[in-house]
Amino acid sequence: MAVVETVKVTKRFRIPGQPPVEVLKGVDLSVAPGERVAILGRSGAGKSTLLHILGGLLRPTSGRVSVPKNFGFVFQAYHLMPELTVLENVLLPTLARGTLRGGAAKERAKALLDAVGLPDRMDHLPAELSGGERQRVALARALVTNPEVVFADEPTGNLDSMTGADILKMLAELSKGSTALVMVTHSHEAAAICDRTLTLADGILK
Ligand SMILES: Nc1ncnc2c1ncn2[C@@H]1O[C@H](COP(=O)(O)OP(=O)(O)OP(=O)(O)O)[C@@H](O)[C@H]1O
Ligand SMILES: [Mg+2]
Repeated sequence: MAVVETVKVTKRFRIPGQPPVEVLKGVDLSVAPGERVAILGRSGAGKSTLLHILGGLLRPTSGRVSVPKNFGFVFQAYHLMPELTVLENVLLPTLARGTLRGGAAKERAKALLDAVGLPDRMDHLPAELSGGERQRVALARALVTNPEVVFADEPTGNLDSMTGADILKMLAELSKGSTALVMVTHSHEAAAICDRTLTLADGILK
């Protein structure tokens, strides 16, 4: 039984006055529970488009998408809430989903911030952190609800290779067990922590 599945997913963008562009032309993807999948592909191939469809941020033009309710999303540009502290940012998904509440949610958030190496930054604002530190907060936020799957869009794209390697190690460790991972990346180091590598080209995932 797949945790994430797409069947013949297409996505066409219409720009007024221009011919429509078909970015996805029938994407079939099936991810098993706990499986880690890397998606490679050149810039503009439609990787973020596919990930946004999986995360419910974009509607497919046609096709079927099946994704569990409880998933985490790591944005390439972090997208932390600037007015919330590090701890509050990590707790944010627990408010919406109600899977973890109050004390238990706080304990889990603190344990994750500990695990990503930021135990003493919990009361700081994102603006006071470096890029790599913000990326780690985003990772903790994606994992706080114990999701069935994490979607990650270039989670090491903006980092130097040392910090990137750290983040990858954490992602591999933290997603160990029952959490599946679908990671878009340009990096072969990042693909190496995955069980399977797929390439998106000409609108098809192979
Ligand atoms: N809202 C939109 N309207 C029109 N075209 C779009 C829209 N969003 C994306 N596109 C186009 O779809 C194509 C795929 O974009 P996408 O962001 O998915 O690429 P990508 O594979 O993630 O690239 P990168 O590796 O550079 O991040 C691009 O040609 C882009 O211009
Ligand atoms: Mg992209």
